[in-house]
Amino acid sequence: MPYFSKASMRSIFPPTDIPWFFFPKTLLVLATALSATAKKVFIDNDEANTPTILIPLFAGWEILGVSGSFGSSSYVDSVGSHATILENYSLDSCVPLYGGASKPFLRTNETFHVWEQLYGTLVWEGAWSPYYTDSYTWKDFSYNETLPGAIAMIEAVKAYKDSDPVTIFAAGTMTTVAQAISIYPNLVKEAAGLYIMGGYIDVQYAHAAGSSFQDDLVSDINIIQDPEAAQMVLTADWKKIIIGGNVTNAETPSQDLYDEMIERAGGLEEIQESPYLVGVNETVLSGNYTLNSVSTENILPFWDSVVSAFMVSPEIITHKTSVALAVDTSFNSPFYGTVRIWSHDRAPTAYKTGNVTIVDSIDQDKFYDILVDAYFQNYTNYCTGGNLTELDY
Ligand SMILES: *[C@@H]1O[C@H](CO)[C@@H](O)[C@H](O)[C@H]1NC(C)=O
Ligand SMILES: *[C@@H]1O[C@H](CO)[C@@H](O)[C@H](O)[C@H]1NC(C)=O
Ligand SMILES: *[C@@H]1O[C@H](CO)[C@@H](O)[C@H](O)[C@H]1NC(C)=O
Ligand SMILES: *[C@@H]1O[C@H](CO)[C@@H](O)[C@H](O)[C@H]1NC(C)=O
Ligand SMILES: *[C@@H]1O[C@H](CO)[C@@H](O)[C@H](O)[C@H]1NC(C)=O
Ligand SMILES: *[C@@H]1O[C@H](CO)[C@@H](O)[C@H](O)[C@H]1NC(C)=O
Ligand SMILES: *[C@@H]1O[C@H](CO)[C@@H](O)[C@H](O)[C@H]1NC(C)=O
Ligand SMILES: *[C@@H]1O[C@H](CO)[C@@H](O)[C@H](O)[C@H]1NC(C)=O
Repeated sequence: MPYFSKASMRSIFPPTDIPWFFFPKTLLVLATALSATAKKVFIDNDEANTPTILIPLFAGWEILGVSGSFGSSSYVDSVGSHATILENYSLDSCVPLYGGASKPFLRTNETFHVWEQLYGTLVWEGAWSPYYTDSYTWKDFSYNETLPGAIAMIEAVKAYKDSDPVTIFAAGTMTTVAQAISIYPNLVKEAAGLYIMGGYIDVQYAHAAGSSFQDDLVSDINIIQDPEAAQMVLTADWKKIIIGGNVTNAETPSQDLYDEMIERAGGLEEIQESPYLVGVNETVLSGNYTLNSVSTENILPFWDSVVSAFMVSPEIITHKTSVALAVDTSFNSPFYGTVRIWSHDRAPTAYKTGNVTIVDSIDQDKFYDILVDAYFQNYTNYCTGGNLTELDY
């Protein structure tokens, strides 16, 4: 996810003036924990994002594992922020947490900054920002140290390949997924498919003419930080690759969203005081969009959450396009780490391109319904086999 900030940690990113007016009660069936027939997902991310954990569970999916990897956060912060969320929602006893990739394959902090001097500065530099400071130490939390995230991903995919193939959700760099494919190439055939956050196209004008915020919103940091891994993952023969790039930028916080959350919680004070609503609190903040938007960091799009939502509820996708895709992996290129797309019949043939589906638009109201409904559940009994219950304020 691209961020606009020198601050290091955030767990939910909000922005907008997109009007949406009501939230009908949930259309989704509430989850029964660990149902044998539940759809399965393995999640890799470069910083914990609360809805990406809650939305699949709310939709009745089982999370077989989560790995925290280097990217927008340092490695320790990525694993640590996931540990915090799993603990806070009492999910740590049944959602295993692993350490994913601690660094990209080839790109380093040094080459990243040299490239910026050659080809222009990125607004958001993630854990390679000179201003980045760790928020966690390894002593602050626990996770499963027995298996590297890539191996856990492989084991999860193998275990269900015949009964219920596992979906891979990757919203940071592609490094951990690339490691898994390198170790076990059959992964791409045995998994149900790959969903990623990232892959911006046709964005030069926004980079040049937009504000630094607009520039940041269309920067492909997830791919830029590890172009080689992204090329390997996105050109592999998955059953499907679904990409949420530009479409995710349109889903942002708004006064209407705040009002809905505040009403549902029974008041702003309830949100500010309830430890259970920390994720909502981080979205709503002052409860006033004008005040919050003084800092763009408070109104960032719901990037990863959008991809989670259309992963579990594909019916919210209103338009998508199938294209051939490759990542520029030439260091001496202004496009190093960005994606190129072609129509299938005119794609390059001298090297491998991927067959990917780009989501172009979604039903915004339905996305916000999923987001809010997922937040307003009580997950306390999930790991002990109980149902989720709607929070009642
Ligand atoms: C990355 O490089 C920048 C610029 O040289 C430097 O300020 C920063 O400390 C480096 N970060 C890490 C984690 O090495
Ligand atoms: C770590 O995960 C592996 C694979 O799921 C499991 O066998 C092992 O018991 C776990 N270890 C801990 C300490 O939970
Ligand atoms: C691309 O993948 C889709 C399935 O996601 C498939 O229907 C289509 O035939 C593929 N196209 C090419 C050119 O391989
Ligand atoms: C990106 O999304 C915006 C709406 O957020 C839309 O106006 C624009 O056409 C989209 N651009 C591309 C290249 O899809
Ligand atoms: C986790 O819970 C603690 C204690 O209630 C709270 O201080 C913290 O803000 C929560 N963090 C997240 C990311 O939910
Ligand atoms: C909710 O956010 C406000 C800042 O908007 C903060 O002062 C308060 O401590 C937060 N509440 C919790 C429970 O974390
Ligand atoms: C939000 O804050 C602004 C600036 O203080 C104020 O003008 C506006 O009335 C507030 N809006 C709401 C809905 O309270
Ligand atoms: C969530 O459910 C647990 C177990 O039933 C209960 O003790 C707790 O009070 C509930 N939390 C909230 C915020 O409703």
